[in-house]
Amino acid sequence: MLYPTLLFTALALFLKWIFTPPAKLRHLPRVSFFRVLWSYANKETEEARIRKLYIPFMQEKGEGVAISYALGRWLIHILDPKIWRTVADDAANWPKELPPSDMVFFRFVGTKNVVFSNGETWQKHSTVVHAALKRTLPIEQFTVLTQKLFKRMGDGGLIKWDHWTMRVALDAVGTTILGYDFEAVENDNSPFLKQYTTIMDALSIPLFLVFPIFDVWFPRKDLINNIDALIARFQAILDYKRENRGNDMLTYMLEEPSLTEEEYRHNMAAFFVAGHDSTAAALSTLVAYLAIYPAFQERARKEVIHALDNKDPDSHNLANMQFLYACVLEALRINTPFPFTAPRVSPTGATLHGSNGKSYYIPPNTSTVLSIASLHRNENNWSDAHTFNPERHLDTLTGKTKIDATIWVPFSRGPRQCPARNFAMYEMRTVTALLLQSWEWELPPGSPHAIAPQNVFSPFGLSSPKDLYINFTKRG
Ligand code: HEM
Ligand SMILES: *[C@@H]1O[C@H](CO)[C@@H](O)[C@H](O)[C@H]1NC(C)=O
Ligand SMILES: *[C@@H]1O[C@H](CO)[C@@H](O)[C@H](O)[C@H]1NC(C)=O
Ligand SMILES: *[C@@H]1O[C@H](CO)[C@@H](O)[C@H](O)[C@H]1NC(C)=O
Repeated sequence: MLYPTLLFTALALFLKWIFTPPAKLRHLPRVSFFRVLWSYANKETEEARIRKLYIPFMQEKGEGVAISYALGRWLIHILDPKIWRTVADDAANWPKELPPSDMVFFRFVGTKNVVFSNGETWQKHSTVVHAALKRTLPIEQFTVLTQKLFKRMGDGGLIKWDHWTMRVALDAVGTTILGYDFEAVENDNSPFLKQYTTIMDALSIPLFLVFPIFDVWFPRKDLINNIDALIARFQAILDYKRENRGNDMLTYMLEEPSLTEEEYRHNMAAFFVAGHDSTAAALSTLVAYLAIYPAFQERARKEVIHALDNKDPDSHNLANMQFLYACVLEALRINTPFPFTAPRVSPTGATLHGSNGKSYYIPPNTSTVLSIASLHRNENNWSDAHTFNPERHLDTLTGKTKIDATIWVPFSRGPRQCPARNFAMYEMRTVTALLLQSWEWELPPGSPHAIAPQNVFSPFGLSSPKDLYINFTKRG
């Protein structure tokens, strides 16, 4: 009798311990632990979870923040646009949380780069990155890459589109940022792609994600070898670039002597991770919505054909595609690639004031994420928030697109916002313009994406539609 009772008591205490936030967080609005658990158990996507569990706090209860227990810790989610602005615009008082050093993921991306550093180190990286990005607007390279894709698409028919957006986005980062062609579009056996996919699959095993300590207790030798081989590959590209300049960002970064060899490598890996799946996800979402709404597709096509006038895309004719631009803005709103940012912490603690007049005390060093999807799907700020409608971004008077940077934040905002925003926007506009010019597309009958693109559960929380089969027909 003793053992079962003890066991039961221990279990009850354990659950109580898990359900109850630490005393310092108990004053904050809380998302039910059971509902979060249920959501994970059902493999709901991050986007769906935010819509069901977090947005109601802001929308119906008027709260500016909500806490929840996920992946081993309590997290504060920022839901209110005013608080969002306070935190995002103040990188000095809200630095990024230092990533856990025992996570294998960081063996791969490293922390000595623009994504994960803070303070003066970040400033140094950020200056170099911005200067290098400013010098390239690779519309021509995006065009060449898209033509390669069209060759692979052959005569069209049923094509697994998410498979190709990954390859296009990978080669876009490769050729324009690293100055190295991974040939992911052209070559089915691209060794680089294989290696990268193997690593990402291993990093995505839920058990290791939830309990990173397992990687310390039971090191995965194959994974570590693969990661080290990939790092060696990056080093080889770096060595090559030192001798062979090109029209790419890495060449420009190498002109700046302030970074160490290790810092260059860590930045290469960071670009790779930050720039590849995000853009692929966005391109999948956009093309899916244009399939769901053929009238928008046709309207965008008319505009594109008129603006291109049989020439290649460039910054001038792309500027005349306002409706296409609005479609990109809307895709990034409704299925935003990163539903939330990396965690921030306030080392001193802070009191945050929401737009509804409520204030919240955030204790020192508490993991806090900026919830992007919460701003994008809030019905207080967006009419018909859950409907894809590019027209909402068009100014009816001037026909130009408009953006409100307090509620449209797919690239975040403030000093830590995405430095490649312009790059990514041009990539999406160029690829989609060419696609509209050469192809028509629709979803096959019975597609699970018929109402909205369906993301798949993703370890890093990315909103990325999967198994997105689309029927492409070549235009005459
Ligand atoms: C549609 C595509 C993209 C989206 C939606 C996107 C979104 C974002 C967001 C939300 C952040 C802030 C993350 C945070 O605060 O935790 C960010 C940061 C960053 N992104 Fe992007 N991104 C995209 C494409 C790219 C590309 C193509 C690159 C590089 C080639 C890139 C490089 C970076 C870097 C280096 C940072 C870190 C900046 C810093 O901390 O100072 N991103 N991105
Ligand atoms: C918060 O973290 C900083 C930096 O790690 C540390 O110096 C400080 O003592 C921490 N504050 C509290 C209250 O734990
Ligand atoms: C968004 O909604 C909040 C109230 O929830 C309001 O205070 C704010 O002004 C709105 N912002 C925009 C841009 O609509
Ligand atoms: C794809 O579209 C073409 C042309 O409209 C049509 O003939 C074909 O049956 C479609 N295929 C599928 C699988 O939907």
